[in-house]
Amino acid sequence: MDVRDHAERIVASTSLTDKLAPPPGPAELDAALATPGPPLRITAPGRPANLAIVPGRQARVPPLAGMRDPGQRARILHALANHELQAIELFAWAVLAFPEAPAAFRRGLVAILADEQRHLALYCGRLAAHGVGFGDHPVTGHFWNKLDHLTGPCEFVCAMNLTFENANLDFAGDYAVAARAAGDDATAAVLDQVHADEIGHVHFGWVWLRRLTGDRDPWQAYLDHVRPPLGPARARGARFDREARRRAGFDEAFIAALEAVAPTRPSGQPR
Ligand SMILES: [Fe+2]
Ligand SMILES: [Fe+2]
Repeated sequence: MDVRDHAERIVASTSLTDKLAPPPGPAELDAALATPGPPLRITAPGRPANLAIVPGRQARVPPLAGMRDPGQRARILHALANHELQAIELFAWAVLAFPEAPAAFRRGLVAILADEQRHLALYCGRLAAHGVGFGDHPVTGHFWNKLDHLTGPCEFVCAMNLTFENANLDFAGDYAVAARAAGDDATAAVLDQVHADEIGHVHFGWVWLRRLTGDRDPWQAYLDHVRPPLGPARARGARFDREARRRAGFDEAFIAALEAVAPTRPSGQPR
């Protein structure tokens, strides 16, 4: 299947199965990326009825301490699965929205999308182990609500990879610790996997921030491509995982600047 058709089906389909369809292979991808087509900015995702986006106040999520209780843990896992669903859709969205971006950038979007599909499947497995299906609880559109921030490839990586996924370097680690403390090693292992992959996704954001902004100071370039409510205070949790940022390739000045910013939310609070 053509990469654009695949991406459009992921965003627009009302079937969860379609959203988990694997991307085209490397040869098909190369051919498709050579003929980018016109930009397409889809304004809202297709969803099955039980995954329709509701306002945040209708989909409250327990705090980190809820990991101790299996019922609350399942609601946290449901919220984390929803993050993955939105990530799948928005990386596919970007394939369609930024056809003029370099082929290597778009190839990277597709690779991350496939990781996000794996993450969603892993969380669905943990939900099933708790007797819960994905769609049993209401879901918010936290990432989708920020579409107006995603005006170009640089703004996209600054919002998705360098803000949301950057913060997840702290949150996923906190949840893994909490799951392990609760005796749920299988959930902790999933969170460890997500954390490890997220380092690669944040690295993608860093690499493209640098490539797309030339010689500019990376911290200033990041600040110039995000705007409130997104920004550095949303790019970290209360506990700061410095080592994960090093592994993501950030330079020491960028790490220090991010560490000096006060977080806006308590650690491990999902949306
Ligand atoms: Fe993910
Ligand atoms: Fe990710």
